[in-house]
Amino acid sequence: MGRSSKDKRDIYYRLAKEEGWRARSAYKLLQLNDDFNLFNGVNRVVDLCAAPGSWSQVLSRKLIEERPNSKDMVKIVAVDLQAMAPLPGVIQIQGDITKISTAHQIIGHFEGEVADLVICDGAPDVTGLHDIDEYIQAQLLLAALNITTHVLKRGGTFVAKIFRGKDVDLLYAQLKVFFLSVTICKPRSSRNSSIESFVVCQNYSPPSGYMPSMLNPLLSNPSQFKSLEGANRVIIPFMACGDLSAYDSDQTYPLAAEQKQYKSLLPTQEPINPPYKTACLLKKNNSLASSENSGKKCNMSHSTNSTSGQ
Ligand SMILES: C[S@@+](CC[C@H](N)C(=O)[O-])C[C@H]1O[C@@H](n2cnc3c(N)ncnc32)[C@H](O)[C@@H]1O
Repeated sequence: MGRSSKDKRDIYYRLAKEEGWRARSAYKLLQLNDDFNLFNGVNRVVDLCAAPGSWSQVLSRKLIEERPNSKDMVKIVAVDLQAMAPLPGVIQIQGDITKISTAHQIIGHFEGEVADLVICDGAPDVTGLHDIDEYIQAQLLLAALNITTHVLKRGGTFVAKIFRGKDVDLLYAQLKVFFLSVTICKPRSSRNSSIESFVVCQNYSPPSGYMPSMLNPLLSNPSQFKSLEGANRVIIPFMACGDLSAYDSDQTYPLAAEQKQYKSLLPTQEPINPPYKTACLLKKNNSLASSENSGKKCNMSHSTNSTSGQ
């Protein structure tokens, strides 16, 4: 989270900085928890695709800070492709959740034990090509589900981001194989303009005889599914989470009168190694290619347009 005019436009972005969350995503997990009591009796959690770490912050606060007596029983394992600044009580793994080696590392931390909850907020770098974005998102979800089948206790809960695209019923059917209850939810802090929703899968009950394996291609034959009809092709229950008094994430809220002199706050946690670092450095040294100095001061092939959004 940087310092930008987003402060003025996005209430959750602003609140996140004021309340010390590393990302506005924290509110999505908090609002899901309001409806599903996700942390009730929970001690061991895996946070997949966790960077920059606002969901892990929520876990750390709810399971450790707010319950100091059960602190020693808590295990939180957070995984992401990106490095993440440390958080109290959170074990970190830097890796790709679609790789077997990462799954083994996670499972290794749960030797002899099982997790009560697995959460996954995984999102690909969006290409803008909807089919590809949805496909990659679905693969992340299935990789998360595969890891979940190795570490989640019977009766446990799995929460994951899902894109409500055209194959959402296929994903739902896959999840229903493993969980007695699957609900698709849209927290108030998730923009209506976004295709993003979250599946809350409760009561983990794998089919009898199911052997977890990272080699299982869960989505191996979508064409077979497409031939299903009627009750076999299930209609997904959809739930809007959070009551109507919560802030609407698509609305712009004016600053309160006493905030007229509103000062943008620094990010709660600076990104460790953001991809736009080089561009910022070049810009600072006035070496970024522009229509006037392109080819003179810097030999980057980027146009000003390609960096202005960063
Ligand atoms: C929306 S962010 C997660 C935000 C996080 N829940 C929070 O509250 O701070 C999505 C994350 O998914 C991660 N990601 C995407 N593909 C991944 C993969 N294959 N393995 C691990 N992490 C991945 C990205 O690096 C990114 O940090």
